[in-house]
Amino acid sequence: MLILAFPDYLPQAKRFALALGAPLQEVYLHQFPDGESLLRLPIDLPEHIIICRSLNQPNDKLIELLLCAQTARQQGVQRITLVAPYLCYMRQDIANQPGEAVSQRIIGQMLAELFDDVITVDPHLHRISRLNQAIPIDNAISLTATDEIGLFLLQHFKHAVLLGPDSESEQWVAAIAKKIGFEYSVAKKVRQGDTQVSISLADFDFRNKAVVIIDDMASTGRTLAQAAGLLLAAGAQRVYAVITHPLFCDDAETHIMQAGVQQIWSTDSISHTSACIHLDKLLAQAIKDFL
Ligand code: R5P
Repeated sequence: MLILAFPDYLPQAKRFALALGAPLQEVYLHQFPDGESLLRLPIDLPEHIIICRSLNQPNDKLIELLLCAQTARQQGVQRITLVAPYLCYMRQDIANQPGEAVSQRIIGQMLAELFDDVITVDPHLHRISRLNQAIPIDNAISLTATDEIGLFLLQHFKHAVLLGPDSESEQWVAAIAKKIGFEYSVAKKVRQGDTQVSISLADFDFRNKAVVIIDDMASTGRTLAQAAGLLLAAGAQRVYAVITHPLFCDDAETHIMQAGVQQIWSTDSISHTSACIHLDKLLAQAIKDFL
């Protein structure tokens, strides 16, 4: 097998290749002035290739994945595995208004047609429980980074309270808390718009405690910022954040830090300065276990 890495995910793909003991080559990408993409693959591809790319800022990347997978098929590649630690378009799983595209289904179908296997980490599945309900192939594999995050927290804290900022985060915060024996609490959140959220904390004594907010992603940062503000107002001594997918759009990071978060840590599912929890071994083990 051969790992093919897109330039924006190259450092992570190199670690993954090392953990798997597999060769890696880079996809050549050029963006024309009008925004179109030129893509070139190595020639003489083996029967099985693993394409590595996280799908944050996804629109151009999806077109490039289409070009990549079809070009590989034309070269005779039999099996194409996509390793996309961050999977896009997973949140829109229903039409909230008549006429709205259910993008989870549409993008899921597109990925199912292009790839034999799709491996991702903690996808944001809301009303469905299995990834192959969104990507209809047998090998739609959803991993979790909760063990990696738990081990990271144990290296940094003797004790801390974990906070999930909304009901969806409970699955991750509860799993991490159980693994490392920390207490946790889950807040309630109502989203009114892209940058408007209303969070209310549960009845929990945060006074003089170090609190780590755990979430699967930070996009505008409003969730983390508001949760941090409420925790500090409730007497928390220090507030930190650990997130799986550091999307950090526009002023998100500034917003979070201004709200009083001492430090943000994240996994390397997406390249970012906070990305210090590496997923290479988790991904390599999944290839060994499932493929
Ligand atoms: C949503 O439920 C997710 O788990 C995150 O809480 C959310 O996407 C964060 O978004 P933002 O950073 O824009 O508040």
